[in-house]
Formats: sequence, structure tokens, C-alpha cells
Amino acid sequence: MKIIMLGAPGAGKGTQAQMIADKYGIPHVSTGDIFRENVKNGTELGMEAKKYMDQGALVPDELTVRILLDRVAQDDCKNGYVLDGFPRTIPQAEVLDKAIKELGDKIDYAIDVEVPDENIIRRMSGRRACLSCGSTFHIEHVPPKKEGICDRCGKELILRDDDKEETVKNRLDVYHKQTQPLIDYYTGQNILKTVDGTADMMDVFTAITEILGE
Ligand code: AP5
Ligand code: MG
Ligand code: ZN
Repeated sequence: MKIIMLGAPGAGKGTQAQMIADKYGIPHVSTGDIFRENVKNGTELGMEAKKYMDQGALVPDELTVRILLDRVAQDDCKNGYVLDGFPRTIPQAEVLDKAIKELGDKIDYAIDVEVPDENIIRRMSGRRACLSCGSTFHIEHVPPKKEGICDRCGKELILRDDDKEETVKNRLDVYHKQTQPLIDYYTGQNILKTVDGTADMMDVFTAITEILGE
């Protein structure tokens, strides 16, 4: 099963993608997580990506596409994957379509997690992220069992550099201009499904599993 998660920054793509990955036994592939891991490790890719991420801008398509295609070519992606944060522009979607078509395959669903902008700003300041395994928590809505520690892997949780209010506003702008057109793109392919992302996290997940099946 090949799934794309769409939605504004902070809509809950990562939260839901991780649950999908666990339930269906497919890898959770997040370009944002890959970039953050590279920033943390001080790689050349990380240094390049950070310039854009800190502004709330998109990392150039050329670089992002290369990273993503390398990742999904790995063995663990053979039986499918859930993409979180990719594609984010029409050119990215077109490259992905072409690559998948060449393998004689297709995307099964593009799931749009819908959350209005007003809710997003409030969510972001409470978010805590694990840079080691990509898990996400929220100090009020999804608290970790032990404060500041990841439930999943035991590493330290951090507030992301790009979760400052001004940067979040930029990310929302970029989302509306560059990423929202993908909703029409996948509607045109008849694979778009929309879920209400303002609902409780588990209710959002139930709505998604109703789409994906058992
Ligand atoms: P990325 O890491 O993808 O960030 P994003 O799209 O801005 O999305 P977020 O990770 O902020 O939010 P999310 O939807 O995953 O929400 P989450 O589950 O954490 O990208 C970061 C940057 O990398 C980009 O700005 C760009 O620079 C670069 N980049 C990445 N991919 C790229 C690409 N393809 N092309 C170019 N550049 C790229 O949830 C948010 C919070 O809400 C959490 O605290 C969570 O616990 C909580 N929450 C989740 N669900 C609920 C719920 N139902 N109710 C209440 N709280 C909830
Ligand atoms: Mg995320
Ligand atoms: Zn972790």
C-alpha cells in the first residue's frame, strides 16, 4: 500500500503517518524527519536544508526529490510506504508519479488531514519532537509518559526550531501557495480522501483506517 499524507504544517500528518506505519507494517517516510536528522548530524545536506527550513521555506525540489527517490528505492519500501511531507509541490508530485509508473505501480491514496490555520498556530507551540525516531507529542493533547522523553525510543524531546510563531505563519503561507494545489491534483486522479484533522487524534486515525481497510 502506497499512501501520501497531505495537510498544512501541524495538521497531524506525522502523528497519523506513524500510526498507519505501525498498523500496516510499512515504513513512515518523512522528508522533514530526514532533513532534521541531517541537520542534527551536521551533514552537507543538513546544512543546505537548514537554510530553507529556518525560514519556513521549502527546500528546493531538485534536492528533495533526490533524497526521497533514494529512500523509497530501499528494500523496506518494497511493499509500500506512507509518505509524510512529500510531495509538497506539483513538480514533486509529477516526479513521484513518473518514478512509480516506471515500476508499474501506483499511489493508492492521498489523505488530506484538514485543520484550519487558527488551530495550527495554537498546536505548534505545544509540540515536542523526537529527532531520533520522528515521534511527535504535544504537552497537552498527546503528552509523553515521562516529561521530555520519547515514549517510543527513550531519547530527549525538543521544541523544533521552525515552530516559532513567525516561522509557522510563513510555513502556512508556503503551504497555501505551493502545496494546496496538490489537493486538486490528486482529486483529478480520484485518490484524494479527506479527514477532519480537528477531531481527537484516535478519531482521526479511525477515519483513516475506514478508508484504508483492515
Ligand atoms: P515537515 O517536517 O514535513 O513539517 P510540516 O509539513 O510543516 O509538518 P509538521 O511536521 O510541522 O506537522 P505534522 O502535520 O506532521 O503534524 P504533527 O503530527 O507533528 O517539514 C519541515 C520543513 O522541511 C519544511 O518547512 C521544509 O522546509 C522542509 N521540507 C520537508 N519536506 C519537504 C518537501 N517535500 N519539499 C521541500 N521542503 C520540504 O502534529 C502537530 C502537533 O499537533 C503535535 O504536537 C501533535 O502531537 C499534535 N496533534 C496531532 N494530532 C492532533 C489532534 N488530532 N488533536 C490535537 N493535537 C494533535
Ligand atoms: Mg511532521
Ligand atoms: Zn523517539
